[in-house]
Amino acid sequence: MQLRIDRASATPLFQQIAGNLREQIASGLMPEGHRLPPERTLARELGVNRSTVLAAYAELKADGLVDAHVGRGTVVLPQRFAPRGTTSSPAQPFSWRQISRRSAASEPLPIIRDLLELASHQDVIPLSVGMPAPELLPLDAVREIGERMLAERGATALLHSPTEGIAPLRESVAALLASRGIECDPAEVLVTTGSQQGLDLVRRVLIDPGDVVVVEQPTFFGALEILRGAEARLVPVPVDADGMRVDVLEELLGRIRPKLIYTLPTFQNPSGASLSLERRKKLLALAYRYQVPIVEDDLYYDLRYHGAPLPTLRSLDRAGYVLYLSSISKVLVPGMRVGFLVAPRPFLRSLALAKQAVDLHSTTFGQWFLDTWLREGRWAPHVETVRQAYSAKRRIMLEALAKCRPAGLTWTEPAGGFYLWCRYPTRLAPSKVLARAARERVSFLPGEACYVDEPVENHLRLNFTFPSARQIRQGVERLGKALQAAAVEPDSRRAAGSETRPII
Ligand SMILES: Cc1ncc(COP(=O)(O)O)c(C=O)c1O
Repeated sequence: MQLRIDRASATPLFQQIAGNLREQIASGLMPEGHRLPPERTLARELGVNRSTVLAAYAELKADGLVDAHVGRGTVVLPQRFAPRGTTSSPAQPFSWRQISRRSAASEPLPIIRDLLELASHQDVIPLSVGMPAPELLPLDAVREIGERMLAERGATALLHSPTEGIAPLRESVAALLASRGIECDPAEVLVTTGSQQGLDLVRRVLIDPGDVVVVEQPTFFGALEILRGAEARLVPVPVDADGMRVDVLEELLGRIRPKLIYTLPTFQNPSGASLSLERRKKLLALAYRYQVPIVEDDLYYDLRYHGAPLPTLRSLDRAGYVLYLSSISKVLVPGMRVGFLVAPRPFLRSLALAKQAVDLHSTTFGQWFLDTWLREGRWAPHVETVRQAYSAKRRIMLEALAKCRPAGLTWTEPAGGFYLWCRYPTRLAPSKVLARAARERVSFLPGEACYVDEPVENHLRLNFTFPSARQIRQGVERLGKALQAAAVEPDSRRAAGSETRPII
């Protein structure tokens, strides 16, 4: 029997226990005749006084849900659920606000909801998103390949397909990964609906509520949402210019037993940092020593603008500890939702079963499209085109920042990826800066979205791939104005509970 109690909650423990049991009786998990555990046993399991359990059972008895008999213990009674309305009363609207504990845990931060709202406005310059340039989407090639595929494959291009992914694509993905130094068998490739789904499947199979997961801080905010939704206990490890501080991780591993380490070693989202080779090796050595699997989220691998590539963790792994995630979202087409996950075969089977329950399989059409794209050798030349374009946009953003030097703003110059990570003075409340940015009609990703706990410094993430060159220049100028305005507002302290909603 699974009972959850929260000692930090204002609800008395006996009421929490009664509430848990009430739910299990109402849901049928404890049917008529089911015997509740003896008070002493349950008290010992939960680490509470016997009188607390007695009080909980007394509540259930008063509700008519259970009865206690000497010799038989406390037993669930037959349930009769009274209708909540009457036959003559009109239908009452259902209250969809009765959300479950799990969905409450995955509620997005208010600042993210505000941000999404803001970014959806046409006149707002979107420096907040994580999308490729719309002008680089290969529209003509998609049309041409699509038509050819329909002519050649007919209905197969649109019917259901295997959960693990169509066999030709698993092969061509394995060949693509070989160019990243990754040796894998097509049977170790699971095609996913974006790499976001890859992480979601891993958490479904691996994470139980309360499990510890190590994440970088800052990290990809979508991953935080997935892991929080799984009720994992997130333990952050700071990131510096060389990626995750593995020295801090080492110290932590002496005290905690994580189920998983989630890392973005190459052009980290949001900081742009890359894990140095030395740290990559150290990270793997720690994983082996403490026997913790690693998820390597590697969407930005191909988008390097300077310097030599670093080996992926998966290519350095000799003992099957690394689960490798990637997708076509940043380089080719995000809307097609095709990603891939490389995992050892027995684990891949569990992931595929989880995927079957979620969406049966990823888009058949998209998979055939990507397979054709890869087999016709279009990946490398396309990567070259986008790399040149993004390298130029990155330069434009750096020049725009250097030109207008917004008050107190400093920024990184990452060698690749999609983002610049900027720091601004702590005396400016992030909500106020976002509100000012909304007035100036420019959006960015607030740094706090990427933190497990309250950040000590203020950051914001700027994307340079999606906006046009003109938008980048204008957006940076508007951001400068927003920071200036926030700085001269009378009360710009970080004030808990007095957030200003962006005006949108
Ligand atoms: C690090 C990281 N992982 C995963 C994702 C999700 O990507 P996909 O579109 O492949 O689901 C993103 C998107 O921004 C990302 O930055």
